[in-house]
Amino acid sequence: MTADNTSLSSSQIADIARRLDRPLVLVGLMGVGKSTVGRRLASALQRDFQDADDAIEEAAQRSIAEIFDEFGEAYFRDGERRVIARLVEEGTGVIATGGGAFADPETRALILDKAVAVWIDAELDTLVERTGRRNTRPLLRNGDPAEILGRLLEQRRPFYAEAQIKVVSSDGPHMRTVDAILKELDSWL
Ligand code: S3P
Repeated sequence: MTADNTSLSSSQIADIARRLDRPLVLVGLMGVGKSTVGRRLASALQRDFQDADDAIEEAAQRSIAEIFDEFGEAYFRDGERRVIARLVEEGTGVIATGGGAFADPETRALILDKAVAVWIDAELDTLVERTGRRNTRPLLRNGDPAEILGRLLEQRRPFYAEAQIKVVSSDGPHMRTVDAILKELDSWL
Protein backbone atom coordinates (compact mmCIF):
# COMPACT_ATOMS: atom_id res chain seq x y z
CA MET A 1 0.00 0.00 0.00
CA THR A 2 1.14 3.54 -0.63
CA ALA A 3 -0.04 6.90 0.54
CA ASP A 4 -2.08 7.05 -2.69
CA ASN A 5 -4.59 4.65 -1.19
CA THR A 6 -5.20 6.69 1.93
CA SER A 7 -6.46 10.18 2.55
CA LEU A 8 -3.12 11.00 4.20
CA SER A 9 -0.09 12.17 2.27
CA SER A 10 3.10 10.13 2.27
CA SER A 11 4.84 12.80 4.33
CA GLN A 12 2.02 12.68 6.92
CA ILE A 13 2.40 8.89 7.12
CA ALA A 14 6.19 9.19 7.36
CA ASP A 15 5.71 11.69 10.19
CA ILE A 16 3.43 9.25 12.06
CA ALA A 17 6.01 6.46 11.57
CA ARG A 18 8.75 8.73 12.91
CA ARG A 19 6.81 9.48 16.09
CA LEU A 20 5.78 5.88 16.67
CA ASP A 21 8.37 4.37 18.99
CA ARG A 22 6.60 1.13 19.93
CA PRO A 23 4.79 -1.76 18.28
CA LEU A 24 1.19 -1.40 17.15
CA VAL A 25 -0.92 -4.34 18.27
CA LEU A 26 -4.25 -5.00 16.57
CA VAL A 27 -6.93 -6.54 18.77
CA GLY A 28 -10.59 -7.40 18.24
CA LEU A 29 -12.91 -10.23 17.43
CA MET A 30 -12.41 -12.91 14.77
CA GLY A 31 -13.26 -11.55 11.34
CA VAL A 32 -12.58 -7.85 11.94
CA GLY A 33 -9.66 -8.03 9.51
CA LYS A 34 -6.68 -7.74 11.88
CA SER A 35 -4.31 -9.65 9.61
CA THR A 36 -5.23 -7.95 6.34
CA VAL A 37 -5.41 -4.50 7.90
CA GLY A 38 -2.19 -5.15 9.84
CA ARG A 39 -0.25 -6.14 6.74
CA ARG A 40 -1.36 -3.02 4.87
CA LEU A 41 -0.80 -0.75 7.84
CA ALA A 42 2.73 -2.09 8.29
CA SER A 43 3.44 -1.54 4.63
CA ALA A 44 2.16 2.05 4.80
CA LEU A 45 4.34 2.76 7.83
CA GLN A 46 7.24 0.81 6.32
CA ARG A 47 7.45 -1.46 9.34
CA ASP A 48 7.52 -5.23 9.81
CA PHE A 49 4.31 -7.17 10.11
CA GLN A 50 3.87 -10.17 12.41
CA ASP A 51 0.79 -12.34 12.75
CA ALA A 52 0.67 -13.89 16.23
CA ASP A 53 -1.50 -16.83 15.11
CA ASP A 54 1.01 -17.66 12.35
CA ALA A 55 3.87 -17.44 14.86
CA ILE A 56 2.02 -19.80 17.24
CA GLU A 57 1.45 -22.28 14.41
CA GLU A 58 5.10 -22.08 13.45
CA ALA A 59 6.29 -22.61 17.02
CA ALA A 60 3.94 -25.58 17.51
CA GLN A 61 4.39 -26.94 13.97
CA ARG A 62 0.61 -27.38 13.94
CA SER A 63 -2.42 -25.42 12.78
CA ILE A 64 -4.49 -23.56 15.40
CA ALA A 65 -7.28 -26.12 14.90
CA GLU A 66 -4.84 -29.00 15.51
CA ILE A 67 -3.50 -27.33 18.67
CA PHE A 68 -7.07 -26.97 20.01
CA ASP A 69 -7.92 -30.57 19.03
CA GLU A 70 -4.79 -32.22 20.36
CA PHE A 71 -3.99 -30.13 23.46
CA GLY A 72 -7.02 -27.97 24.23
CA GLU A 73 -7.66 -24.26 24.52
CA ALA A 74 -5.68 -23.71 27.77
CA TYR A 75 -2.53 -25.02 26.07
CA PHE A 76 -3.16 -22.75 23.09
CA ARG A 77 -3.58 -19.72 25.41
CA ASP A 78 -0.24 -20.48 27.14
CA GLY A 79 1.53 -20.57 23.79
CA GLU A 80 -0.31 -17.44 22.67
CA ARG A 81 0.80 -15.55 25.79
CA ARG A 82 4.46 -16.52 25.28
CA VAL A 83 4.50 -15.80 21.55
CA ILE A 84 2.90 -12.36 21.91
CA ALA A 85 5.31 -11.44 24.72
CA ARG A 86 8.21 -12.33 22.41
CA LEU A 87 6.78 -10.40 19.46
CA VAL A 88 6.10 -7.30 21.57
CA GLU A 89 9.56 -7.39 23.17
CA GLU A 90 11.30 -7.88 19.82
CA GLY A 91 9.23 -5.71 17.58
CA THR A 92 8.67 -2.16 16.56
CA GLY A 93 6.26 -3.07 13.80
CA VAL A 94 2.63 -4.06 13.50
CA ILE A 95 1.37 -7.22 15.23
CA ALA A 96 -2.02 -8.84 14.56
CA THR A 97 -3.28 -10.95 17.47
CA GLY A 98 -5.92 -13.67 17.67
CA GLY A 99 -9.30 -12.51 18.96
CA GLY A 100 -8.85 -13.95 22.47
CA ALA A 101 -5.34 -12.68 23.15
CA PHE A 102 -6.27 -9.29 24.64
CA ALA A 103 -8.73 -10.95 27.05
CA ASP A 104 -5.74 -12.48 28.85
CA PRO A 105 -4.79 -10.14 31.75
CA GLU A 106 -1.02 -10.67 31.40
CA THR A 107 -0.99 -10.16 27.63
CA ARG A 108 -3.26 -7.12 27.91
CA ALA A 109 -1.07 -5.50 30.58
CA LEU A 110 2.07 -6.11 28.52
CA ILE A 111 0.55 -4.67 25.33
CA LEU A 112 -0.83 -1.61 27.11
CA ASP A 113 2.56 -0.99 28.72
CA LYS A 114 4.94 -1.69 25.84
CA ALA A 115 2.86 -1.16 22.69
CA VAL A 116 -0.16 0.71 21.37
CA ALA A 117 -3.30 -1.41 21.27
CA VAL A 118 -5.70 -0.74 18.39
CA TRP A 119 -9.18 -2.22 18.77
CA ILE A 120 -10.88 -2.88 15.46
CA ASP A 121 -14.61 -3.21 16.11
CA ALA A 122 -17.26 -4.23 13.58
CA GLU A 123 -20.95 -5.06 13.30
CA LEU A 124 -21.79 -8.63 14.23
CA ASP A 125 -23.34 -9.28 10.78
CA THR A 126 -20.06 -8.31 9.12
CA LEU A 127 -18.12 -10.68 11.39
CA VAL A 128 -20.51 -13.56 10.74
CA GLU A 129 -20.21 -13.01 7.01
CA ARG A 130 -16.40 -12.74 7.03
CA THR A 131 -15.74 -15.68 9.37
CA GLY A 132 -18.15 -17.83 7.35
CA ARG A 133 -15.75 -17.81 4.41
CA ARG A 134 -13.34 -20.25 6.09
CA ASN A 135 -13.82 -23.13 8.49
CA THR A 136 -10.47 -22.83 10.28
CA ARG A 137 -11.59 -21.33 13.59
CA PRO A 138 -12.11 -23.98 16.28
CA LEU A 139 -14.26 -21.74 18.50
CA LEU A 140 -16.85 -21.33 15.73
CA ARG A 141 -17.20 -24.99 14.87
CA ASN A 142 -19.47 -26.11 17.67
CA GLY A 143 -22.60 -24.05 17.42
CA ASP A 144 -24.18 -21.11 15.68
CA PRO A 145 -21.36 -18.70 14.72
CA ALA A 146 -23.59 -15.62 15.15
CA GLU A 147 -24.54 -16.67 18.67
CA ILE A 148 -20.93 -17.56 19.59
CA LEU A 149 -19.52 -14.32 18.17
CA GLY A 150 -22.21 -12.30 19.95
CA ARG A 151 -21.38 -13.96 23.26
CA LEU A 152 -17.62 -13.50 22.80
CA LEU A 153 -18.15 -9.83 21.97
CA GLU A 154 -20.15 -9.29 25.17
CA GLN A 155 -17.46 -11.05 27.23
CA ARG A 156 -14.51 -9.34 25.60
CA ARG A 157 -15.81 -5.84 24.89
CA PRO A 158 -14.68 -4.47 28.29
CA PHE A 159 -11.14 -5.71 27.59
CA TYR A 160 -11.01 -4.45 24.02
CA ALA A 161 -12.29 -1.09 25.29
CA GLU A 162 -9.03 -0.67 27.24
CA ALA A 163 -7.13 -0.30 23.96
CA GLN A 164 -5.60 3.15 23.45
CA ILE A 165 -7.11 3.44 19.98
CA LYS A 166 -10.48 2.29 18.66
CA VAL A 167 -11.72 2.20 15.08
CA VAL A 168 -14.82 0.71 13.51
CA SER A 169 -14.43 -1.45 10.42
CA SER A 170 -17.31 -1.19 7.98
CA ASP A 171 -18.02 -3.96 5.51
CA GLY A 172 -16.21 -1.87 2.90
CA PRO A 173 -12.58 -2.25 1.85
CA HIS A 174 -9.97 -2.85 4.55
CA MET A 175 -8.03 0.20 3.32
CA ARG A 176 -10.71 2.36 4.90
CA THR A 177 -9.82 0.83 8.26
CA VAL A 178 -6.11 1.40 7.63
CA ASP A 179 -6.89 5.02 6.89
CA ALA A 180 -8.99 5.37 10.07
CA ILE A 181 -6.21 3.85 12.19
CA LEU A 182 -3.58 6.19 10.75
CA LYS A 183 -5.76 9.22 11.54
CA GLU A 184 -6.50 8.07 15.09
CA LEU A 185 -2.85 7.26 15.60
CA ASP A 186 -1.86 10.71 14.35
CA SER A 187 -4.02 12.41 16.98
CA TRP A 188 -3.09 9.97 19.72
CA LEU A 189 0.63 10.46 19.20
C1 S3P B 1 -9.54 -16.95 18.62
C2 S3P B 1 -9.30 -16.23 17.46
C3 S3P B 1 -8.45 -16.76 16.37
C4 S3P B 1 -7.43 -17.75 16.91
C5 S3P B 1 -8.11 -18.82 17.70
C6 S3P B 1 -8.92 -18.27 18.87
C7 S3P B 1 -10.42 -16.34 19.65
O1 S3P B 1 -7.77 -15.69 15.72
O2 S3P B 1 -6.46 -17.11 17.71
O3 S3P B 1 -8.93 -19.53 16.80
O4 S3P B 1 -10.36 -16.79 20.81
O5 S3P B 1 -11.16 -15.39 19.33
P1 S3P B 1 -8.49 -14.61 14.74
O6 S3P B 1 -9.11 -13.55 15.60
O7 S3P B 1 -7.35 -14.08 13.94
O8 S3P B 1 -9.47 -15.37 13.94
